[in-house]
Amino acid sequence: MEKRIKKLSLNFRKLLKEASAQSASLGYELYLVGGVVRDLLLKKSVFDLDLVVEGDAIELVRHLKRDYNKHHTFGTATVYFDEHKIDFATARLESYSHPGALPRVKPAPLADDLKRRDFTINAMAISLNKGSYGQLIDLYSGLSDLKKGVVRFLHNNSFTDDPTRILRAIRFEQRFKFRIEKNTLNHMEAAISNGAILSVNPHRLRDELILLLKEPKPYRYIKRVNKLVGFSFLSPKSRKALIVDYELIRRVQTALSFYKKKFRKHRKIDDWVVYLAAIILSKSAGKIEEFIHCFGLRKSERLRILSIKKNISKIKLLNRQLKPASLYRIMEPLSFESLIFFYAYYPQKMIRKNIIYFMDKLATVTLKIRGKDLIKLGIAPSRLYSEVMGKTLNAKIDKSLKSKRDEISEARKIIRRLKTK
Ligand code: CTP
Repeated sequence: MEKRIKKLSLNFRKLLKEASAQSASLGYELYLVGGVVRDLLLKKSVFDLDLVVEGDAIELVRHLKRDYNKHHTFGTATVYFDEHKIDFATARLESYSHPGALPRVKPAPLADDLKRRDFTINAMAISLNKGSYGQLIDLYSGLSDLKKGVVRFLHNNSFTDDPTRILRAIRFEQRFKFRIEKNTLNHMEAAISNGAILSVNPHRLRDELILLLKEPKPYRYIKRVNKLVGFSFLSPKSRKALIVDYELIRRVQTALSFYKKKFRKHRKIDDWVVYLAAIILSKSAGKIEEFIHCFGLRKSERLRILSIKKNISKIKLLNRQLKPASLYRIMEPLSFESLIFFYAYYPQKMIRKNIIYFMDKLATVTLKIRGKDLIKLGIAPSRLYSEVMGKTLNAKIDKSLKSKRDEISEARKIIRRLKTK
């Protein structure tokens, strides 16, 4: 495995060496664990690291000499550098008071820490200790499952202890094109039919769902979740089945890929928001609000999802030839997530053409004139001020104004018109 560790960046390796030396001096044992080990074995690139300490993780991080950006909470310390994140956790044993509850934890040897984990492929470790540095520790046949392409749980209570693992199993199955081992799948299906998912705090479900929707091309994942679990957990109060429009999801996926290819330099968008909107679109606006509240989505996420629902009919206006200023007026208030959604939703060529035209040519148009230019024209910052700016921008778009002089002369005309009204 030392060969694999060498694949890590120099900075990562330096940090591991330093942590290893400090851990030894404190009389601790240190290991790389979980998804990182899996990804190193799969020769995938690794971005963040998870380390487990048989000892006090926070104490160990405190002893790291280099000037890292450090944070710590109960039993876990995090070091940030070069946009990477390295978590140090004290090896622990977890017990659950009831299904879906947050676990009670206590320090434990590495073997117990690995045993509490979700799947065998995620329950391997690499020693960072002198004498065994780089050695793989595979107590639960993770390597053999990785080679076979199998997602297998470590014990029969895995899904009832932590039902978010149901979504995780699907995520790993689809990401690596693995299969969920038969007994694991049986227990997973039993947990699903016992409503285990509904016992989980919706915020934790949200986090898992977002991770799933952030995977590249999540169409397959969504289909699999819908088949095995269904999306009724998104409306925990009514628990009503949610009918997912696969065709729409597929079109969303195509639209997002198209956007990324065509608009490489444009603003970055949250793909998962578009997928989530497509999944819950059939719900009423009220039910979507309820979901957003219950799952604790952020304000900007809430606004984008609700605006998709709210503007879906209005977008039909785009199904004709319109002046650039009208296109601007309709689309400027909408997020790019909404526009991509509508592009996917409406197959009409004219609508799509108008959306592309807006994103390509209009969305980036800004005025060269500023407030001080309007002040020179006799307009103080007031309601009129934003009206003049808005109308000048429309005129700029409509008449393809290029220079600042053109904008000033247009603003002058607009002010005259507004004052004589
Ligand atoms: N883990 C677990 N049960 C969970 C979540 C996490 O047992 N519900 C364990 C697994 O061992 C996992 C590790 O914690 O490998 C780290 O969790 P996370 O960062 O969420 O998963 P990764 O396996 O690193 O997955 P990804 O590649 O998606 O980041």
